[in-house]
Amino acid sequence: MQPFYVTTPIYYVNDLPHIGHIYSTVVTDTIARYHRLTGDPTRFLTGTDEHGQNIEKAAAAQGVTPIALADRVVSRYQDLYRRFEISNDDFIRTTQQRHRHGVEAIVARIAAAGDLYVAKHEGWYCASCEAFYTEKELDAEKRCPVHGTATVWESEDNVFFRLSKYAAPLRTHYAKHPEFVRPESRLAEVVSFVKAGLNDLSVSRSKVTWGIPFPNHPGHVVYVWLDALSNYVTALGFGSPDAALYREFWENPEGCRVHVIGKDILRFHAVYWPAFLLSAGLPLPTTVWAHGWWLRDEKKISKSVGNVVRPDELVERFGPDALRYFLLREMTFGLDARFSDEAFLARYNADLANDLGNTVSRVAALCRQSFGGTPNELCTDNDILRAWSPARADWQAAMEECAFSRALEALWKFLAQINGFVVSREPWKIRKEEGTSSPRLHRVLSAAAEGVLLAAAALSPFAPATSRKIFETFGLPAKEPSGADLEWGRLPLETPMPDQPALFPRADAGAYLSGKEGTMSDQTPVAPPAAPADDRISIEEFQKVKLSTAKITAAERVPKSNRLLRLQVDLGSEQRQMVAGIAAQYEPEQLVGRNVVVVANLKPAKLMGVESNGMVLAAAVGEAGAPVLVDVPADVPPGSKVK
Ligand code: MSP
Repeated sequence: MQPFYVTTPIYYVNDLPHIGHIYSTVVTDTIARYHRLTGDPTRFLTGTDEHGQNIEKAAAAQGVTPIALADRVVSRYQDLYRRFEISNDDFIRTTQQRHRHGVEAIVARIAAAGDLYVAKHEGWYCASCEAFYTEKELDAEKRCPVHGTATVWESEDNVFFRLSKYAAPLRTHYAKHPEFVRPESRLAEVVSFVKAGLNDLSVSRSKVTWGIPFPNHPGHVVYVWLDALSNYVTALGFGSPDAALYREFWENPEGCRVHVIGKDILRFHAVYWPAFLLSAGLPLPTTVWAHGWWLRDEKKISKSVGNVVRPDELVERFGPDALRYFLLREMTFGLDARFSDEAFLARYNADLANDLGNTVSRVAALCRQSFGGTPNELCTDNDILRAWSPARADWQAAMEECAFSRALEALWKFLAQINGFVVSREPWKIRKEEGTSSPRLHRVLSAAAEGVLLAAAALSPFAPATSRKIFETFGLPAKEPSGADLEWGRLPLETPMPDQPALFPRADAGAYLSGKEGTMSDQTPVAPPAAPADDRISIEEFQKVKLSTAKITAAERVPKSNRLLRLQVDLGSEQRQMVAGIAAQYEPEQLVGRNVVVVANLKPAKLMGVESNGMVLAAAVGEAGAPVLVDVPADVPPGSKVK
């Protein structure tokens, strides 16, 4: 048993959560639940990254204060987390006082180490990354390697951190602790980056005001990444009078500290963060685990690409556990994976409705029909018990390596063994031949039910609600399992078994996919990725798009959607209903009477079951592409052509 601390990245508040964000959080939740299950004192942190230029700009564009924007997005994150049963112990916001005090304490320690100095800072800056790039890292057009968008040359007096001083200590650390970055291929990437030499890092910004004031440098705020990375210790009370959690989960030499991140933010976590910590004289994390990206159409799912998949609709239709399962089963942790509606439905029907759902309902139905409840005898000598030991060992070994897909495979193999056992023992035949008091019948079904309960306990980190339902089915309280539930012999005997609906009712994939009349992707208008010059279109092509002014006459939220608003718009000669993905940025009442630009000749589409006849245009602001409506002066009549 060792104190185990696990964190997600803290999320930017200029975008609502999409599948990629949910993935990081679900993975971290699964790791935390696994460690709690095995008895480790566990702490799980998530939160939001609320400072910086992008948020400042997105808020200004929406005419709200940055904190109002943050409050709105944070509550959406928290709603979704409740839905997904994310079991975080804390939620840090970088705008909280506790965080600010902790950041000030870290900066003070870095300053005391002599690692800060002021100098002119010039370089190629990507506003979306909030990071500078060297010429070598950019292409001929000086485009950002992550976003493919133009960087700009910036020059200002900044506070610098002596990152160069830490190149050698970092390399020593990587060599001594190969587990510091996982998977291995990512460690190689980090090592070669550091080997190429580290330049000192600018850690203050004077052109940004939305941030933590840089101690002793009036007019500067703390660089957003130094601010954000510090959350991992400020949330534990570092820099506050009560640092008990910090001592237990960060300073404790016995403890394990894991940051789960996406591969795009590896350098910040595996180079800058440990360098800041070395300078401040604080312990380093044990492991930075960089996962791959969810791709759609071969591109990273992201708002700036415009291909996002929101979890809302899938969760609504199939339940949070189905999506949790899919994300963890489909992606090999560390590698990229492709998201598609078809792949989701295939796994849903094959793995959840069939393999898991049918096994549970078959064993439960046999018990109910035979005894009206659970059997009256425990069976301690059978093939399922013998199969459990290797299954548990495979599951556990995979969980320890964060090989979630493999861990689930081990459980599914065990489910197949339970099924095989039931088929080969033919309990329905025993019942017919020997009656329901047959000890053999009780033993066979008790072995099968025990197997199902063990599988449910091991499944609980992935699909907590499903695991609870299975416990309930076999007469146990619907509770979080503990390590004891991984041991044989938990089945209560002669206990009534309540009737339960199917865990995962089979989905008609064809009907679902065609009923969507579109895709799960966000249909909010967003800027297309920077188009190469030969993607230009002719005036005739442009004229095919009928753009018109319109007045919004009514607006309301689409039920069960965090993102969509149903709008009634007046196009002069007709009234139309349109659905727009702007609920995070606009309250419905703000919109009534507003003049906007719409695409009037778009084929109808259904979003969350609501028909949309056209599209309201919005600018996509910042990396997250937060929609800002294109305004039209009040005196322009609705229905005017926009050309
Ligand atoms: N605010 C920073 C993190 C600071 S941590 C001290 C940030 N935020 S983010 O909201 O842009 O991204 C949060 C996480 O979501 C990152 O780990 C990122 O890799 C992950 N994902 C965003 N899109 C993703 C996919 N399409 N696929 C998988 N994860 C991706 O970065």
